[in-house]
Amino acid sequence: MKYIVANWKAHFDLTEAYHWLHTFAALPLEQLEGGVEVILCPPYPLLSIVNDILYDPFIKLGSQDVSQYEPGAHTGEVTAKTLSGIVDYAIVGHSERRSQYSESNEVIAAKCDRALAEHINPIICVRGSQDVIPKNCTFVAFEPIEAIGTSNNMPIADVLITKQNLHLSDTHVFLYGGSVTSQNAQEYLQSDKIDGVLVGSASLNPKELFAIALATKR
Ligand code: PGA
Repeated sequence: MKYIVANWKAHFDLTEAYHWLHTFAALPLEQLEGGVEVILCPPYPLLSIVNDILYDPFIKLGSQDVSQYEPGAHTGEVTAKTLSGIVDYAIVGHSERRSQYSESNEVIAAKCDRALAEHINPIICVRGSQDVIPKNCTFVAFEPIEAIGTSNNMPIADVLITKQNLHLSDTHVFLYGGSVTSQNAQEYLQSDKIDGVLVGSASLNPKELFAIALATKR
């Protein structure tokens, strides 16, 4: 199975999201069926409309974060309990959260635990082998800072060196993220050492995301 994770980050209002979804739904999605899972991660308020419009067994929903807290008096937080039944995945520990919101390895580990307790698969983002992969986190996305949003995707040989340094087990799912586009996705997706890609900017264009997902088939 190959995984294509689309991280919309803090983009799109309702109108833009509808436009994206209708454009994507009109593409020949049946060409993707079998062996690929597309995980859409919109901002929280847009999760349910994605779910309503794009119902397809190979399209899953993910959140871009999850609270470290249990349900309670935490104004503005979105807990794993709230997300359960809505998403199958949650991105955790993205480098933007680590740098802009000072998220520590401890906070990130707590978020993973909360997600797992609600049967949500955390997708832990690491910037390199210095970042801790919490126990029981199966999905690991390697996202080198210098490759995020820069058009400088990391060559696959270097990605695989970091993969080795992460000392993953056979049960881990290993994703690469950082300036993935339809021009370079094939390089990663055709490797049996890489289980998928995490796509930021390119995922804002539905046709581009479709082309990236299609690269699993070539
Ligand atoms: P990018 O973002 O594809 O725009 O580089 C990837 C990410 O930060 O998840």
